[in-house]
Amino acid sequence: MKKEMLYEGKAKKVFATEDPNLCIVDYKDDATAFNGLKKGSIVGKGVVNNRLTNHFMRLLDKEGIPTHFVEELSERETLVKRVTIIPLEVIVRNIAAGSLAKRLGLEEGHVMSRPVIEYCYKDDSLGDPMVNDYHILAMNIATAEELNTISGYSLKINEYLRDYLLKHGIVLVDFKLEFGKLPDGTIVLADEISPDTCRFWDSESNEKLDKDRFRRDLGGVEEAYQEVYRRILGEGN
Ligand code: TMP
Repeated sequence: MKKEMLYEGKAKKVFATEDPNLCIVDYKDDATAFNGLKKGSIVGKGVVNNRLTNHFMRLLDKEGIPTHFVEELSERETLVKRVTIIPLEVIVRNIAAGSLAKRLGLEEGHVMSRPVIEYCYKDDSLGDPMVNDYHILAMNIATAEELNTISGYSLKINEYLRDYLLKHGIVLVDFKLEFGKLPDGTIVLADEISPDTCRFWDSESNEKLDKDRFRRDLGGVEEAYQEVYRRILGEGN
């Protein structure tokens, strides 16, 4: 089914298929941080991220969020709709952490009084700089209507996942989304939703259960990914 490789990113490979409208995503265990400056591997990450992403995409589809998900093919491979990625990282934050805490002098853990959306322009050579609505419209990255759809979906995804994860003992601190466009212009959720792209804290202890363990050399990285997997996809769930 897999044909030529179309793209290799830091955490995934994307392959063409016989159907020009579909491609296959293959999740790797490779991990990077700080725009590729820090490199490593998180054993089993590809499986966790593939299966968790697909689980979240199925749930979100039912909630009325269109996604690129088609079918899980194996523990690391998924068939998805081929999209043109909109070059934006859409970050939603409920609790101050990471770059927001640093930039605004907020203590990590400070609860924001409402969700915050930030956009970064996806360009590795520039280090994914933050942009606002005006930049996005003036650079024709998205139209006003598309941006409205993207922000609306992002807030809805936040509300749904925040409640869902809390039921599994996980606080959704913040996360990053990417959207793509189908040939007919429909905007769909693409990329992944995983401990690589979200901050997940244990709801009792605030222990970090995500890639910050790798970024910050906290140890227990594999264990954290497995713990999120167990809480969400383990037996009895
Ligand atoms: P930040 O606090 O470092 O800006 O990260 C915000 C959220 O976005 C956090 O959940 C991690 C996620 N993220 C990515 O998925 N990819 C990235 O390249 C970066 C910098 C952050």
